[in-house]
Amino acid sequence: MHRRDVLIQTPAAAAAAVLAAAAAATAPAPCAAAEAFGDAEARELRVLRQLGGGSYRSVYEVEYTDSLTATVRRAALSCEVLARNRDVRDAAGELEVFSVLQSAYGDSPVMQLLEQLDTWWVKRSRVSVGDTLIVPPQSGQRLPTSTRRAVSLCQLKPLYDFDLRAITKFPPYALGSVPSVRFGGTMLNTEEAAVRMALDLLLAGECLHNAGVLHRDVGLANCMVKDGRGVLIDFGLSEVLKPGQMCRDTLRGQTEYLLPSETARGRGCRGGDVYAMGRTFSETFLDYAPPELHRPRRAMRADDFGSAKRHAAR
Ligand SMILES: Nc1ncnc2c1ncn2[C@@H]1O[C@H](COP(=O)(O)OP(=O)(O)OP(=O)(O)O)[C@@H](O)[C@H]1O
Ligand SMILES: [Mg+2]
Repeated sequence: MHRRDVLIQTPAAAAAAVLAAAAAATAPAPCAAAEAFGDAEARELRVLRQLGGGSYRSVYEVEYTDSLTATVRRAALSCEVLARNRDVRDAAGELEVFSVLQSAYGDSPVMQLLEQLDTWWVKRSRVSVGDTLIVPPQSGQRLPTSTRRAVSLCQLKPLYDFDLRAITKFPPYALGSVPSVRFGGTMLNTEEAAVRMALDLLLAGECLHNAGVLHRDVGLANCMVKDGRGVLIDFGLSEVLKPGQMCRDTLRGQTEYLLPSETARGRGCRGGDVYAMGRTFSETFLDYAPPELHRPRRAMRADDFGSAKRHAAR
């Protein structure tokens, strides 16, 4: 395993200024967890391995010494390239979701079922492994509202064990059929473990909807497992709805997880998340994917087609 050192300085004042400026610039309130980021300290992050990611976002497993507690911790670091104005809007939307969830559920145990954010910062260039990542100390730093050249959004999050794609790599995932297969030290192919994981993810989805958030990208790659418990992640395409609102007038997410009727209407509603979760369970537990929906080599997204209306008209 190849290790590279990444230095991160985290002056609390700078972090607070960044959050305040970003909040003023982009409307969403800063995440409470990020606001609580500690005193001025330097953290040396060692990148242990890449966990995932595509063209815009890379996610790494990192190790660092927490200077407050002097303990070595592992975390996930996601570095996202904001190359287009739409990326910036999505990034602001994602931070808003973390903030909405924090205000809705605070320290409630259901938060363990939804992705958490420890802290975030913006770097005014692309980030690649081996870069020195420094939280800029100047107060003017903010998440821009538009971008002319690529900037990177870095997010430090708790580390989860694996996503549900890992389970589908051992088909057929038949309950009790492969008792020797363990995932992340947790035996998952028992009925009890599978039911608990599924219930966790259903509850996570329900809590998300109850907080007024549409996920819009539920799928195998965005359902994680940590110590045998399900965790719903990736709010990159999520939308915060107005009270009572059930739908958004654009359709987003991987095309094979879209509800056909929503595709026809060109908008995404809560039912679309429910459908995507059902399909995810079908692929995970039953090793079943409708033949007409076989996964393309590169996941197609609804917004690859441009506006949802154009997509619906295809
Ligand atoms: N906190 C984490 N712990 C462990 N693995 C993670 C974590 N966050 C993400 N991953 C892994 O990285 C992959 C990609 O992460 P994420 O969903 O955040 O980005 P993305 O899918 O590239 O973004 P987008 O869906 O916006 O294109 C996940 O499918 C998962 O396997
Ligand atoms: Mg994802």
